[in-house]
Amino acid sequence: MCGIIGYTGKEQAAPKLLLGLKRLEYRGYDSAGIAVSSEGGFSVCKKKGRVSELNGAEKIKGVCGVGHTRWATHGAPSERNAHPHAFGRFVLVHNGIIENYLPLKEECEGRGEKFISETDSEVIAHLLEYYDRGDVLAALKETAARLEGSYALAVMCRDEPNVLYAARRKSPLIVGRGKEGLYLASDVPAIAECGELYSLCDGEFAVLPGDKIRFYGEEGEIKKETMKLVSKSDIPEKGEYAHFMLKEMHEIPAAIANSLINFEDDFCFSAINIVLCQTEYIQIVACGTAYHSGIAAKYAIEALARVPVEVTVASEYRYRDPIVKKGTLVLAVSQSGETADTLAAAELAKERGATVIAITNVPDSSITQIAHFVLFTRAGREIAVAATKSFNAQLALLFSLAVALAKAKGRETVPSLRPLPALAEEVVSEAEKMKEIAPMLLGAKSVYFIGRGADYCAALEGSLKLKEISYLPSEGYPAGELKHGTLALIDKGTPVIAILMQEGLSEKTMNAVFEVYARGGRVILVTNLPEYAARKEVYRSVLLPKCEELFSPILSVIPLQALAYYTSLARGNDPDKPRNLAKSVTVE
Ligand code: M6R
Repeated sequence: MCGIIGYTGKEQAAPKLLLGLKRLEYRGYDSAGIAVSSEGGFSVCKKKGRVSELNGAEKIKGVCGVGHTRWATHGAPSERNAHPHAFGRFVLVHNGIIENYLPLKEECEGRGEKFISETDSEVIAHLLEYYDRGDVLAALKETAARLEGSYALAVMCRDEPNVLYAARRKSPLIVGRGKEGLYLASDVPAIAECGELYSLCDGEFAVLPGDKIRFYGEEGEIKKETMKLVSKSDIPEKGEYAHFMLKEMHEIPAAIANSLINFEDDFCFSAINIVLCQTEYIQIVACGTAYHSGIAAKYAIEALARVPVEVTVASEYRYRDPIVKKGTLVLAVSQSGETADTLAAAELAKERGATVIAITNVPDSSITQIAHFVLFTRAGREIAVAATKSFNAQLALLFSLAVALAKAKGRETVPSLRPLPALAEEVVSEAEKMKEIAPMLLGAKSVYFIGRGADYCAALEGSLKLKEISYLPSEGYPAGELKHGTLALIDKGTPVIAILMQEGLSEKTMNAVFEVYARGGRVILVTNLPEYAARKEVYRSVLLPKCEELFSPILSVIPLQALAYYTSLARGNDPDKPRNLAKSVTVE
């Protein structure tokens, strides 16, 4: 949700800010802007739309500046609401939400101050101007103390044209030192070339006077440890692929292989193994795609380890007064590790006495600061807003955990996860065939995805992918639920994607297929059972290799991801940057 960047050094700031913003664009892309210190003030360029709209901004002269790419929360996407925001001697960019901005704004207006935008962020510039008595850091601290909500802030003051000030609460902020200057950014890849990186923690401030980096906490100046440096592969590049989403789908086999964890082989997992032995009950909290991986994990854990699992959307968990019994393990699953609701749910679970394991794809993300233990999916950076390889990686890791838990509970026979990367390779290599099926969805009013058990998880994720990037209305249902209402929506030509990867449930799922066929619906069957693929009631089929049934969503979701991708293309959309969405949802 919004990307921020700052640079101060010896070289021209504008080209560096624009490059950083391009790399941060996955965080929001409805407007963009930069401000650069120039003689006696700031040169500002802001535009509605993507970073590429900032034509000519690279020519702005000056060696210190800030930039922003926005995902609108308060106020429509427009030039007026685009950051940077300025008031008096201050200019700033902000990622997060200031929840008490209305009373603060009234207070400023009471002093006769005029506001230009409808944003919550502009009030911060007004407060800075009000509190500044010649010490910008003190003004920033006083301002921060008035703010409720979340913020990552990069601030410049006209009186100190080459100095950047930064503050963080509940929104990520990285500080870096490169050969030619100092940087601030919402995320590491934006400043990947820096040879020294630091992650600000909540309540911390940084001052970058062009040559030094100084950090401050509540009590005064503090020292911080450097972060692990990024490798070149962490810098997002599309390479030969038309879109990041397509590239990331091709990385699924490697993401699975890298995320399978053998809890017995690795010493560092022994502590988690002890927790698993004591676990009586599991709660999984997550949002969106990560929530769907939790549903697949529930089926696998309950079947293999016989430990009850409850999966709850994090935004519901945090406000429902959850019961956390002794022996409860909470798995907080988040690709980005920055999703506001998942962080809040994990914090609440911890407060109530649960052991919290975070499952995330991003080292040093906020969730790693909350959880007792962290397990990393090793999918590599995911840039496309629609999650693909990170979902398969979450499944690989959660299935590994299910197997480890089953062993910890004394189960002797557990299925092997080893075949999964090779099987995924096979499925990915055939995924382009979904290009032929995509046109079938184009004229549809709505599309339904159905399945039972583990197949239901794939149905939910397939449906989310489709609506997210093709903008077609779609729902995922348990196949058995169809006749309890949704069947009323099936008529001639309605596309229904049925997932059938479990032999024991085949007749039951096929009953739903027959019911759809009888109403004129067109069934596309995704299955590993060739005998059903050939049935007359099946309009088109996608044949997949067999694997352990509980683990099958890791394969069956791949053609569904591809179907969404090709449908999005066929509808003329940009699959990497769907409208109204952003990659990490750091606000409520
Ligand atoms: O970073 P997270 O895994 O916590 O993100 C959760 C959801 O916002 C995310 O999975 C979202 O649903 C995806 N864009 C779906 O493709």
